[in-house]
Amino acid sequence: MYPLLLLPFLLLFPLGCFPVSLPLCRNSCGRIHIDYPFAIDDGCGSPLYRNMFNCSTTFASTSNTSTSTSTATATATATDLFFQTPSGSYKVETIDYASKSLTIYDPSMSTCTILQPHHDFLMSDLQFAIIPPSPDTIFALLNCSLDSPILNHYKSLCFDNYHSCDDLYASCTSFKIFQMLSNNTPPCCFTSYTTLKFMSINILDCTHYTSFYDADKLNKPLDWSYGIKLSYGLADTGCDGCRRSGGTCGFDVETQGLLCICSPTLNSTRECGAGTTDAGGRGGDGKRLVVPFLRLITTIAIATAFALL
Ligand SMILES: *[C@@H]1O[C@H](CO)[C@@H](O)[C@H](O)[C@H]1NC(C)=O
Ligand SMILES: *[C@@H]1O[C@H](CO)[C@@H](O)[C@H](O)[C@H]1NC(C)=O
Ligand SMILES: *[C@@H]1O[C@H](CO)[C@@H](O)[C@H](O)[C@H]1NC(C)=O
Ligand SMILES: *[C@@H]1O[C@H](CO)[C@@H](O)[C@H](O)[C@H]1NC(C)=O
Repeated sequence: MYPLLLLPFLLLFPLGCFPVSLPLCRNSCGRIHIDYPFAIDDGCGSPLYRNMFNCSTTFASTSNTSTSTSTATATATATDLFFQTPSGSYKVETIDYASKSLTIYDPSMSTCTILQPHHDFLMSDLQFAIIPPSPDTIFALLNCSLDSPILNHYKSLCFDNYHSCDDLYASCTSFKIFQMLSNNTPPCCFTSYTTLKFMSINILDCTHYTSFYDADKLNKPLDWSYGIKLSYGLADTGCDGCRRSGGTCGFDVETQGLLCICSPTLNSTRECGAGTTDAGGRGGDGKRLVVPFLRLITTIAIATAFALL
């Protein structure tokens, strides 16, 4: 009877979550460091960016047919952070917390080396408000028709004298085809994300697009950094205090109220009790007393179980 009663306890304790605490908020995804205001676990980071990021691992399935058995094994090939917008999931290439910017890459756009039919890039209104494309992110619309609104009524949306279309088409192996297939150079337009936000590329009547950042007029298309740079602002929400006290900033998933996550068993509204070394605080003291107590109980339980067997 006694061993039976103790059995669940003995089985549960070594696996129990008390002494081994998994972090509630993962701080990396692949090689990308995750920090406030971003997060990949719900309830972490700022509620404004909730559900915008996703850490996903791609698996390559390799089937192995040997003499007698056929086994299919899934091997993880890459773990990447994705930024999700209404038009798709875009791989995050870098996050620079100092300059408050991140760069994402649209796998369906054309670049100097690859020509792909366009697929609109669109952000939600909330995303456009809190994490818009940076002013130095430029969209180049390629092979536009002569009837395109941006060559007529909306001409002003294209940056004047940015690069000539001839120069653009001639600089890149993938864009050379636009000149080869027509007698005269088809129009192009260098513009900002706002243009795409209000008119789809179909309405703009261009067949391809590319986007790049960190480019000035003097840079050649071969040297551009292809992708989209987003910049975010950060209101002071008191996260610094929480962080200094050793906590991680998060929020209550129901009320969206801000939380300072101190330990798996303790959340506080502003900062963690045990801020500096000596103060101790409720969280720390509690743990120090509970752990030895549980160890004692386990030892007694194991001893009793052996005595009875
Ligand atoms: C603390 O907050 C996190 C994030 O909202 C939540 O997942 C966790 O359950 C909370 N823990 C406690 C002890 O309330
Ligand atoms: C996470 O990102 C991947 C990236 O391609 C996407 O396919 C998937 O739907 C996303 N998952 C969630 C839960 O949003
Ligand atoms: C297939 O299995 C054999 C033996 O089990 C192993 O040596 C080989 O590396 C495997 N090949 C792949 C592609 O996994
Ligand atoms: C360029 O656009 C025209 C229509 O305006 C289209 O017929 C042609 O296929 C496009 N060129 C390429 C290389 O896609």
